[in-house]
Amino acid sequence: MKAVRVPKLDAEKVRRFAERIGAKDKSRLIVVRGEYVEIPIYEGYEDYFRDYEIVEQENPVFSKKTDIYEILKEKIPKDLWEFIPRRYKIIGDVILVKIPEELEGFKHVIGEELLKLHPRCKAVWRDKGKEGMLRRPNVELIAGWGSVTIHRENGCLFKLDVTKVMFSPGNQGERMRMAKVVEEGEVVVDMFAGIGYFSIPIAVHSKPKRIYSIEINPDSYEFLLENIELNKAKRIVPILGDSMHVTPEGVADRVVMGHIFCHDFLPTAIRALREMGIIHYHESVPEAVINRPIKRIEKACEELGKKVKILNFRKVKNYSPGVLHVVIDALVY
Ligand SMILES: C[S@@+](CC[C@H](N)C(=O)[O-])C[C@H]1O[C@@H](n2cnc3c(N)ncnc32)[C@H](O)[C@@H]1O
Repeated sequence: MKAVRVPKLDAEKVRRFAERIGAKDKSRLIVVRGEYVEIPIYEGYEDYFRDYEIVEQENPVFSKKTDIYEILKEKIPKDLWEFIPRRYKIIGDVILVKIPEELEGFKHVIGEELLKLHPRCKAVWRDKGKEGMLRRPNVELIAGWGSVTIHRENGCLFKLDVTKVMFSPGNQGERMRMAKVVEEGEVVVDMFAGIGYFSIPIAVHSKPKRIYSIEINPDSYEFLLENIELNKAKRIVPILGDSMHVTPEGVADRVVMGHIFCHDFLPTAIRALREMGIIHYHESVPEAVINRPIKRIEKACEELGKKVKILNFRKVKNYSPGVLHVVIDALVY
């Protein structure tokens, strides 16, 4: 393995030159030996450094690669590089990664390399999306073992099984926001509570009087119960059932509608409020019809003889190309 041996004074100039012409071997670190510095270069670039001595490195120091794309390029043929995943989620000690069909034959290699890169993680699951209103994950084990994990975020603990319930790291900002907006003594209704995505941060960081946390999926509900215990979130009142039918009426200062396909539930949310209150309404909306969620809120309020003031319109994340996950804070009175 070749390196250019340069006096310390020239090292920065030569390093920049080597990088500019693509000669620098990124898999090895620059090494200082006495008054000289060895800059690792790829074979075939020696002639560019005629002013300096080219040495054969006996003990090269390799850089620890942290970019899974770069690591996998060494394992996957060049014509498939465009499909190599660049991003993945770490939930607790479990990794979820989307892998296109083109890399089906390499899924275990991808899993193993991710485990090597994150030695504290125990398993890698292929993420094939979420299904239906319950947002059940479709996943496949590709490396390691285990699916139940505890994810720590913003001082909260979320226990879950990645094969049974979803967890979206992309919603972290919104979970943190919800933890701050609730005022002391408020009654909150969380109509799609899941494992406590919003209820737990609210209970941990605010001082609500009560949070009614409604969840229809028994798997999620079981974890909601565990998370209430784990976080000592005594103000949460868990309710197993369909929020269309079990949401209490006339009790709430605030209703969280944390499901991106929940517009049919707007009348129920409005009925859950006292005389006056705030709804946090989520929707997945194509940018071409970006006002649709506001129109839906206004229509539902009008039909129930209520007035509405839109307080905030916030992008939570990109949902898919051209489609946003947004949340609207609406004051209903
Ligand atoms: C997609 S999750 C919410 C994710 C959350 N916004 C976050 O920050 O990651 C929505 C939850 O609503 C639940 N759900 C769906 N329909 C429901 C209904 N009719 N009543 C109560 N819960 C429901 C699902 O089972 C799921 O746990």
